[in-house]
Amino acid sequence: MLHLKPLSAGFGLEATGVDLAHPLSDAAFSEIERAFLDGQVLVFRQQRLTPAQFLAFARRFGPPEPHVIDQFHHPADPNILILSNRVENGKPLGLADAGTYFHTDYSYLDVPARATTLYSIEVPAVGGNTLFANQYAAYDGLSAAMKRRIDPLLAIHHYGNRHNQDESTRTVASVLTAEQKARMPLITHPVARTHPATGRKALYAVSGSSFGIVGMPDDEAHALLDELASHATQPRYQLSVTYGIGDVVIWDNASLLHSATLVDPAHPRTLWRITLKEAAPAGRAEAILASAFVNGGM
Ligand code: SIN
Repeated sequence: MLHLKPLSAGFGLEATGVDLAHPLSDAAFSEIERAFLDGQVLVFRQQRLTPAQFLAFARRFGPPEPHVIDQFHHPADPNILILSNRVENGKPLGLADAGTYFHTDYSYLDVPARATTLYSIEVPAVGGNTLFANQYAAYDGLSAAMKRRIDPLLAIHHYGNRHNQDESTRTVASVLTAEQKARMPLITHPVARTHPATGRKALYAVSGSSFGIVGMPDDEAHALLDELASHATQPRYQLSVTYGIGDVVIWDNASLLHSATLVDPAHPRTLWRITLKEAAPAGRAEAILASAFVNGGM
């Protein structure tokens, strides 16, 4: 029997009474899915999962999509990305400093991520939280005039962090090889996006992968996106989630921004991550538009 406890006054739920190592009945999964959509972030403490069990749980939320950074795919399954700051014999064991800025997973793809789930293997002595920012609340908190201004707008997305592209720093988007970069498309998504499951409007990836707005000069677009990002990541919209070993966290990318926090490399942190896609391409039609726009001289 699923029990739910709020993680904050605004959003986030901690779920007890479920062992994710066992297959979930359809009834049990619909309770969990309801809690995921209502809570936006759902935390299950102290699970003990094999890669196959973690994947079986994750798959209930949608088709998994392996991360473009294939150097750190789990040897048991490429759908699992190893996040870790551990280095052994000079070799990193996982992707360190992944997503250390507010972003939305796979908002740079035509089929964006519905959900991302992390399974905590190793917890640092200090820090290692993930921050979440509620983008329903951020949209609702805009003035009527700002809503009218942004409602028709399409943001242009590509892989990266708009606020930092210095590949020598720890808050840049995880660095891709030339071949991986070449595979990354240019995509558009509405700035204020209707959630595919709940129908509610949320600000969508106004921090992270959004680099422009269709039909708007770059300086104006950046100023608007920066204003929206500052608004959307205010402390009043945030929740900080702490991890213990075995904790599973799953979040709703369509209604949240999230950010990893920088961890002292002296404190090992390791998690497995699986990203589940939405059901249908969301950005492809608009991508054609964006590409025409770019060719026309963005
Ligand atoms: C991520 O953005 O997927 C990673 C979050 C984290 O490591 O806290």
